[in-house]
Amino acid sequence: EYDGGSRPEVGGESSPEKLLSPVLSAFWDDPRSWTLATYRRHDGYEGLRKALAMSPDDLIAYVKDAGLRGRGGAGFPTGMKWQFIPQGDGKPHYLVVNADESEPGTCKDIPLLFANPHSLIEGIVIACYAIRSSHAFIYLRGEVVPVLRRLHEAVREAYEAGFLGKNILGSGLDLELTVHAGAGAYICGEETALLDSLEGRRGQPRLRPPFPAVAGLYACPTVVNNVESIASVPAILHKGKDWFRSMGSEKSPGFTLYSLSGHVASPGQYEAPLGITLRQLLDMSGGMRPGHRLKFWTPGGSSTPMFTDEHLDVPLDYEGVGAAGSMLGTKALQCFDETTCVVRAVTRWTEFYAHESCGKCTPCREGTYWLVQLLRDIEAGNGVMSDLDKLNDIADNINGKSFCALGDGAASPIFSSLKYFREEYEQHITQGGCPFDPARSTAWA
Ligand code: NAI
Ligand code: SF4
Repeated sequence: EYDGGSRPEVGGESSPEKLLSPVLSAFWDDPRSWTLATYRRHDGYEGLRKALAMSPDDLIAYVKDAGLRGRGGAGFPTGMKWQFIPQGDGKPHYLVVNADESEPGTCKDIPLLFANPHSLIEGIVIACYAIRSSHAFIYLRGEVVPVLRRLHEAVREAYEAGFLGKNILGSGLDLELTVHAGAGAYICGEETALLDSLEGRRGQPRLRPPFPAVAGLYACPTVVNNVESIASVPAILHKGKDWFRSMGSEKSPGFTLYSLSGHVASPGQYEAPLGITLRQLLDMSGGMRPGHRLKFWTPGGSSTPMFTDEHLDVPLDYEGVGAAGSMLGTKALQCFDETTCVVRAVTRWTEFYAHESCGKCTPCREGTYWLVQLLRDIEAGNGVMSDLDKLNDIADNINGKSFCALGDGAASPIFSSLKYFREEYEQHITQGGCPFDPARSTAWA
């Protein structure tokens, strides 16, 4: 159970000094942290110098050895993805950075871009040198106009300083960087829908394989990487792969950004080694809001099966969360206290998935619609007991039978909430309304 915010003993095993490892967020509080001048004061673009002194193949091997795994959700090894790009094929190669962060509860790439855009630009130049690409794209979520402006300004500064454009730092590398703003569709964060959207078409997922590494943007070999993955590369080059591996675990090394939100005393971005636990993060951030206790939470956004207070000590890395029955995903830790109706929360998430379903495949397009109808009925007190099996059935017919990960993500909160909180669903049915807020019970009637 987690019922407060006991501050850790200073210097103790779980003290912030030992657990927090700001790298990406190290100088977010500096005045004008987003400028090239500030970035260079903090050794910015030094990783690039080291990278350019290696051969592209050695650079890929170095990033592979460091063990960096994709921070967009799936945790695919970054160096391995780069290695998939065929060499000597005569085709252009592209790097596309996925900055379409939209997973509910996820708020780390956008703050990173706002506070420290040059870490991404430096990472892009390094990655393009490795995969022999001369054109990179950043696909940014369209709603975040202030971030778009800041990113454009940072790109302009990088061109002016010779970190982008022709013959970068005299290495012979030429690189153009295009920043593209999407129009605000969740599905455009799915890598192949993103590529369709970037090519000017309606964003809908493509069949995989072929993966983008074989046929991506304009049918050419393309690496699609998340913002945080690419922004982590300069520090690995600058400080070394052993330094990176000294944090986290054998299979999930390094530091990462967690987004902590919900009923917590201090929501925000917390950078820590992989493998930290929610209990440690809550301890160092002031805990749940005063007088309340944790009821349920998501380890990686609403698409990942929810956890309860029994899971406070699960190591937040790919293996630890997987072994406990969920997925690390985007590391979006949404915490809900005992005042939250789990049926209401799941209804709200499912409405999101139904709204964002692109409609390409039947299980997701129809299934998310029917899930919403059933959930609204149950929440309003108009459900019957057999609806719970129906919910399970519909989720089962979406999960693993849809075209892309959105379908599986929509099924996940249904399964996990029924697993841990079936009684709360039953209460809505037997009491004819929401036990948490009777006034809302007729909202959908
Ligand atoms: P995936 O596991 O299918 O693929 C991960 C990456 O590895 C992709 O870039 C894919 O191209 C590459 N890959 C996998 N197998 C490959 C192969 N054999 N050859 C070449 N490349 C290969 O995962 P997916 O469907 O791309 O993403 C799902 C994840 O996205 C979920 O874990 C979820 O957490 C996350 N997500 C993140 C959001 C955000 O806002 N950051 C939003 C929604 C979902
Ligand atoms: Fe579109 Fe949903 Fe099918 Fe994905 S699972 S292709 S979002 S309808």
